[in-house]
Amino acid sequence: MLSLIPLLTLAALAAAQTISPSVQHAKRHHLPGGWSRVRRHEPDAVLPLRFGLTQPDVDMNTLEALLNDVSHPDSPNYGMHWAPARVAEHFAPSDEAVHAVTSWIKERGFAQERVRVSKTKGWVMLNASVAETEALLNTEYHVYAHEPSGKEHVACDEYQLPAHIVPHIQMIQPTIDFNAILGKRAASTSTHITLGQPGAGTVSPKLAATVSAIFSDLDNCHQQITPTCLRALYGISYLPIAAAKNSLGIVEYTPQAYRPTDLDMFFSEFDPTLVGARPELQSVDGGVVQNVTANFGFNGESNLDLEFAMTLVTAQQKVTLYQVGDLVMGASFNNLLDALDSTFCSFRGGDDPENDGIYPDPSGYQGKDCGTITPANVVSTSYGYNEADLSPAYTARQCAEYAKLGLMGVTVLYSSGDNGVAGNSGVCLNPDGTQTTAGKIFNPSFPSTCPFVTAVGATQVNPGASVTDPESACAQVIFSGGGFSNQFAMPDYQKGVVTSYLTTNPPPYASTIYNATNASRAFPDISANGANYVVAVDGEFGLVFGTSASTPVVGAMLTMVNDARLALGKSPIGFINPTIYSPAFRGAFNDITTGTNPGCGTVGFAAATGFDPVTGLGTPKFPKLVELWSQLK
Ligand SMILES: *[C@@H]1O[C@H](CO)[C@@H](O)[C@H](O)[C@H]1NC(C)=O
Ligand SMILES: *[C@@H]1O[C@H](CO)[C@@H](O)[C@H](O)[C@H]1NC(C)=O
Ligand SMILES: *[C@@H]1O[C@H](CO)[C@@H](O)[C@H](O)[C@H]1NC(C)=O
Ligand SMILES: *[C@@H]1O[C@H](CO)[C@@H](O)[C@H](O)[C@H]1NC(C)=O
Repeated sequence: MLSLIPLLTLAALAAAQTISPSVQHAKRHHLPGGWSRVRRHEPDAVLPLRFGLTQPDVDMNTLEALLNDVSHPDSPNYGMHWAPARVAEHFAPSDEAVHAVTSWIKERGFAQERVRVSKTKGWVMLNASVAETEALLNTEYHVYAHEPSGKEHVACDEYQLPAHIVPHIQMIQPTIDFNAILGKRAASTSTHITLGQPGAGTVSPKLAATVSAIFSDLDNCHQQITPTCLRALYGISYLPIAAAKNSLGIVEYTPQAYRPTDLDMFFSEFDPTLVGARPELQSVDGGVVQNVTANFGFNGESNLDLEFAMTLVTAQQKVTLYQVGDLVMGASFNNLLDALDSTFCSFRGGDDPENDGIYPDPSGYQGKDCGTITPANVVSTSYGYNEADLSPAYTARQCAEYAKLGLMGVTVLYSSGDNGVAGNSGVCLNPDGTQTTAGKIFNPSFPSTCPFVTAVGATQVNPGASVTDPESACAQVIFSGGGFSNQFAMPDYQKGVVTSYLTTNPPPYASTIYNATNASRAFPDISANGANYVVAVDGEFGLVFGTSASTPVVGAMLTMVNDARLALGKSPIGFINPTIYSPAFRGAFNDITTGTNPGCGTVGFAAATGFDPVTGLGTPKFPKLVELWSQLK
């Protein structure tokens, strides 16, 4: 490629470079806790420099346009998803970026053979002495020490680049970052939230009572939700016929683990043909189905997800379990995304030691899984953060990756949270950005606020009501997570219905309480029952509540919609939001018009006719979804 560029251009560029002023590219404002500066680094020590190049088209508007092209039902390219190689190629840094950066380095006196470009074009690599690096980046390198662990780390405080190079470089390592591996994260001072760890404050289902007698009829769905009740509520009657081509992925974060004996206890009661059936385990970063600790806090989520998902898709359809993270380090959503897409591993610098599992882990899993897994058609996750737990740069990087999965034809589902307009553990925001139970500001949940995932809320069969009566927003034990993002703009697909909600049902809250700009992403997108699930946990049946329950149920239904399309030789449904919000799908959901999602000392938002930030568009009418999606291209 480079040889095609005329020499004239090269000469012109070289001339331009000599007059390009130096500008600061990055600066660290304070040292992380426990670290102190020890000495100036030795001038002849060698630094393995890595220049991370800017990817094209990863801004939200461009991603939405690309995704609409293959996901909007009116697009001529509907369903024409991208192969992973096309995604990698499209988002690879441009030849122009590679050329500009390598030319600049060579112009500064580094021999051609010392400069290398990674296969993905994501990185330019150069081994340079400290003295050479300090001259190149106009900076000084120091050695820092971490008192508690005795580890050392090399870094600079800030560095500069010529102005014409800045647009092409996302980040350079090692420079200002302190992503030094400190071993087991529990021992570090990091404030990260570990997904999967009981009590970590992430979404987890709630156990309300043990069940002594299970109702097998439809008369008691207001007291117990069984697979039979869900089939009646949403019209689920379907036997998969294209199962070999299809897949449903359920994601769990270690130490959460299912118990085989519990699956069989559930299957014996609700579908004996499944007794002995297990999900197909795909381990990510040392993920294990641990059997060391058994109680509801460790088994509730996985058992719930797998018992209902496997039963609803029937014994015909295999379910894949993505078990993410080892028992020492644990993991985060980024660790799964690394395994689903090899190009994500280094995208904008890769994993973040504050929030992600950093592998290889010296005291745990010795590998690092990048691109080891082919994503399932539907990937259902019942875990979540508060959006405010994470920086906008971090959430934007991850959200862009969900768009890429959508381009590849993957449906990504996330539970919307169980605390109404409050965050996990019921905390709300304070004006200074901190989160406490006394906070007054609504605290939306991530990844649900990412416009490129489908967020699933929770409903209930009202007390005393029949299975054919309209459901309400869930108001038993948990409240459906919903509201408006503080970080993501409203995507086109929901503009009409959300504006209509805000006009017809103006929320009675000041703009200091929630993002009242009328221009931010509203969630959830859809919902399903999340109350009174009969779940076998640790040898007993209990009643479980949560968007943790509704999400895999929606995942099971969408998996069978995919089955119907695959049987017709069509593509999987992929990113569903542009479709489900489109006028053609208006009749495909049971509109939920009663109930609210309290939190932060308020009643929250109100469910209403049409979309609402409590139950989204409503609950699925499964036969209608199969019919409408079978008609699409
Ligand atoms: C830098 O040095 C390391 C260790 O000698 C070597 O493995 C690597 O290939 C070198 N990288 C470049 C870009 O020369
Ligand atoms: C517990 O897990 C280990 C490792 O996954 C497995 O070898 C062992 O058989 C399990 N024990 C029981 C009682 O299931
Ligand atoms: C509201 O959301 C938008 C994104 O749509 C964001 O730019 C803005 O900062 C948010 N406002 C507040 C007060 O969080
Ligand atoms: C948001 O929409 C409501 C209802 O249409 C309107 O009253 C309000 O002024 C709008 N707010 C902004 C910031 O535009």
